[in-house]
Amino acid sequence: MSELKNIPRHVAIIMDGNGRWAELRHKERFYGHIQGVESVRATVKAAIRNGVRYVTLYAFSTENWERPEEEVSALMELFCRSVENETPELQRQGVRVAMIGDRSRFPSEVRQSLDRIEQETASGDKLTLILALNYSSRSELTRAARLLAARAAAGELSPQQIDEKEMAAALYTAPYPDPDLVIRTSGEMRLSNFLLWQSSYAELYFPEVLWPDFTEEEFDRAVKVYAGRDRRFGRIKKK
Ligand code: IPE
Ligand code: IPE
Ligand code: MG
Repeated sequence: MSELKNIPRHVAIIMDGNGRWAELRHKERFYGHIQGVESVRATVKAAIRNGVRYVTLYAFSTENWERPEEEVSALMELFCRSVENETPELQRQGVRVAMIGDRSRFPSEVRQSLDRIEQETASGDKLTLILALNYSSRSELTRAARLLAARAAAGELSPQQIDEKEMAAALYTAPYPDPDLVIRTSGEMRLSNFLLWQSSYAELYFPEVLWPDFTEEEFDRAVKVYAGRDRRFGRIKKK
């Protein structure tokens, strides 16, 4: 376990730079996605070692459907294969896998694999690994508005009762605490429709490293940077 005092409870990661990593090596973009699975393994290990309880990984955005069909289907296959291959080790490590996003648009084999890994890791109590799949914040918030409106129309909830708590409860992330730290690799400094509500007070960290080069040491560095931040939540610095 880490010596640091302020360990983030929840780290959310925008895994970016797979395509560039592959292009630098004159390989197909897909090669970078395959290599990125190794970085996911390293992240899980380092998170557990540091005492982080939740990790959310942005694996596929609602906008990623706009990529060439061959890249999308290669990613779908990779999700299936990784889920099958990684399940035993995740169980051994005490990792519970959960998901946010709209899975209904995924091919049925992918949906089945995802359902299976959720069930087979349900008792993991060291780390909750949340995969954001066909996820975007705007679609999540729109869905929440629809759910709340339906409850209001059914007379279960008055408009005055809609507060921040009800909003948060209508999001995919309802069971989880907000992220304390959001990491985006590859040097890009944007959130690309990721956890916009939930990251209102998250610390942001943008390392230059491309996702396939992200290691346990890189995760440790991010945790260390976080520990040095002063989170004020609108208040003034603690004496
Ligand atoms: C992130 O890497 C992985 C996914 C979005 C699935 P990219 O594929 O976006 O890699 P770059 O940004 O093109 O280098
Ligand atoms: C964000 O990365 C989505 C994921 C990491 C899954 P993108 O590479 O799709 O984001 P943009 O297009 O550079 O903003
Ligand atoms: Mg990218």
